Amino acid sequence: MCGIVGYVGKKVAQDVLVGGLRRLEYRGYDSAGIATLDDNNDAHLARAVGKISSLSAVLEKEPQTGHLGIGHTRWATHGGVTETNAHPHHVGNVYLVHNGIIENYKELKAELQKTYTFASDTDTEVLAALIDSNYTKDSSLKDAVAKALKRVRGTYGIAVFSPKEPGTIVVARLGSPLIIGLGKDETLIASDASALLGYTREAIYLNDGELAVCTKDGAEVYSLELKHLNSKKETIEGDLAQIQKGGYDHFLLKEIMEQATTLHNTLYGRIDPKAGKMHLGGPNLTEKEMRDIHHVVIVGCGTAYYAGLLASYYMEQLVPDLTTEVVIASEYRYRSFHLPKDSVALIVSQSGETADTLACLREIKKRGVKTLGIVNVVGSTIAREVDGGTYVHAGPEISVASTKAFTAQVVAMLLFAGMLAEYHGGDPKLVAEFTRELAILPEEIEKTLNANRETMEKLAKKYAEYDHALYLGRDTAFPIALEGALKLKEISYIHSEGYASGELKHGPIALIDNRFFEVFTILDNWLFDKACGGLHEVRARGGKTIVLTNSKADIEADDIVRIESKIELLAPILLNTLQQLFAYYVAVDRGNDVDQPRNLAKSVTVE
Ligand code: M6R
Repeated sequence: MCGIVGYVGKKVAQDVLVGGLRRLEYRGYDSAGIATLDDNNDAHLARAVGKISSLSAVLEKEPQTGHLGIGHTRWATHGGVTETNAHPHHVGNVYLVHNGIIENYKELKAELQKTYTFASDTDTEVLAALIDSNYTKDSSLKDAVAKALKRVRGTYGIAVFSPKEPGTIVVARLGSPLIIGLGKDETLIASDASALLGYTREAIYLNDGELAVCTKDGAEVYSLELKHLNSKKETIEGDLAQIQKGGYDHFLLKEIMEQATTLHNTLYGRIDPKAGKMHLGGPNLTEKEMRDIHHVVIVGCGTAYYAGLLASYYMEQLVPDLTTEVVIASEYRYRSFHLPKDSVALIVSQSGETADTLACLREIKKRGVKTLGIVNVVGSTIAREVDGGTYVHAGPEISVASTKAFTAQVVAMLLFAGMLAEYHGGDPKLVAEFTRELAILPEEIEKTLNANRETMEKLAKKYAEYDHALYLGRDTAFPIALEGALKLKEISYIHSEGYASGELKHGPIALIDNRFFEVFTILDNWLFDKACGGLHEVRARGGKTIVLTNSKADIEADDIVRIESKIELLAPILLNTLQQLFAYYVAVDRGNDVDQPRNLAKSVTVE
């Protein structure tokens, strides 16, 4: 969603800000802007609707030369996509960029309208006015920001400067990330560490309720009561290569194709195929705590939710006395849910910032239940707030559509299940079999992707003009059907739904006509015949069918993609990589913006 960058130092701020905004493009946005302060203490503002290239075109005509500034990519919440609604907002002596939502902006606006005329429809302009109204002769910008924020209900990550205090940027956060990068004679600000890569590795991750005064010499952190706080310096992980396309046309294709490597990182040091054992350090649970767990609730949104669903099937197979429940975060957060004391909650999130997932984490903690994060982004809010957990180590996922994170999340949860099994009388042979498959999964993914890339491209061309798709699967192929449908709809804009194939005759079979195609994932397991049953029902009604399978048996369908693999239990993960390729090539064929699909944001930090 929205992105923030800021700079104070010796470089030309415009260059750093625009470069930083480009790094944040992947998060999804609809307009962008920067404001800088030149050496005569005159402020300059430029904003544009559309891509960063539109902003660059404006800046080419009127370059900004100052060495301090703030920038923003906006994903509209309050007010349409217009230049006036884009950030930074300027009111009186204040220039402000803001991520999040000011919930009480209407009442604040009614009050401030006596003094200020508002140009935009945004809550952010109201916040800028509120800060300006507190910015009196005797107060500093820091005082004004602190005073204003005490009156605010909602969430924010903000960066503010004023021509009255050159050389200073004030930042603050509540529920929306802000990182301060500390360089030599320069300080950078970003809502996402990827904007800081290449500048510095040393950073302060601001906590909720904190404010910081940034100058080129560093940052001082305060509470909103303006009590000085000791800040912790942390190291930013990752490198520039991880956030570049590496020769691929799109980040999405790169992220699909690099799954063997990223999965290696997920598994590194966590499996012992010889002993047939799995190990995950992060949960940090004692033997007694592991034994006491009898209920696992898995929380996530979108792809993270589907990863949880697939993992729950594996957990049930591995841990005989375990009850699992997988919940959609946006629903669960408002339910009057009860969790038994012997529960543990797995909080699954690639970004670690998803607002609904974070809200669930907090609700679950209030109920005294232990929370474990299954998170990709290091240092993210969820990773910081959980009691324990594990990073999935998939590396930066830039494309809005989640691919490699899904694979890593399923595997990380499987590792947790393998460990639990040991304490709950799980079958050691089954744990060993899963471990064996995990050990070869990276190379099997690599083989599968390379062997089928062209086939999936051809298949995509054949089906790219259809209006609708149904994805169907049974057992562990069911979560894969849901995930396949989500991937196709979000990047190709083809209407697609995932269903358990046993549900076909309870409704969806009525849809089948020549505008639809159906994708069946059929596993070579004990439910094979039943899985084929759904396929026959669709074919009998003239449906166009694609089958993805690891079975060698005869199957009738319009198109069949068979994989040859030594993997059985984890075959759904392999077959899912084909669905990812299929969705990618359909989207390319339809000429869509593959990495930044319309209306979507990479990290959904508002409700
Ligand atoms: O960052 P998170 O894993 O918490 O994000 C959850 C969903 O927003 C995300 O998986 C979304 O569904 C993706 N666009 C799917 O490709």
